[in-house]
Amino acid sequence: MCICLCFDVSKAEVKKSIRDGYDSMEKLSEQLQVGSHCGGCIGRIEDILEKKKTGGFFANLVSCAIQR
Ligand code: FES
Repeated sequence: MCICLCFDVSKAEVKKSIRDGYDSMEKLSEQLQVGSHCGGCIGRIEDILEKKKTGGFFANLVSCAIQR
């Protein structure tokens, strides 16, 4: 799935770069150029970054289970 149309960058490439330590919009932009042209992908990439920081679905599920 292409997440940055301007530079033909996939969601998988973004996730791999985040795992490799490019864990901010600025770092991802330097690495993959995402967000550096029209900016249309910034919101989608920030969503991925936020999910990584919060641990995504499973962290929310565990947190929900603990609260019960
Ligand atoms: S869609 Fe990513 S910079 Fe345009």
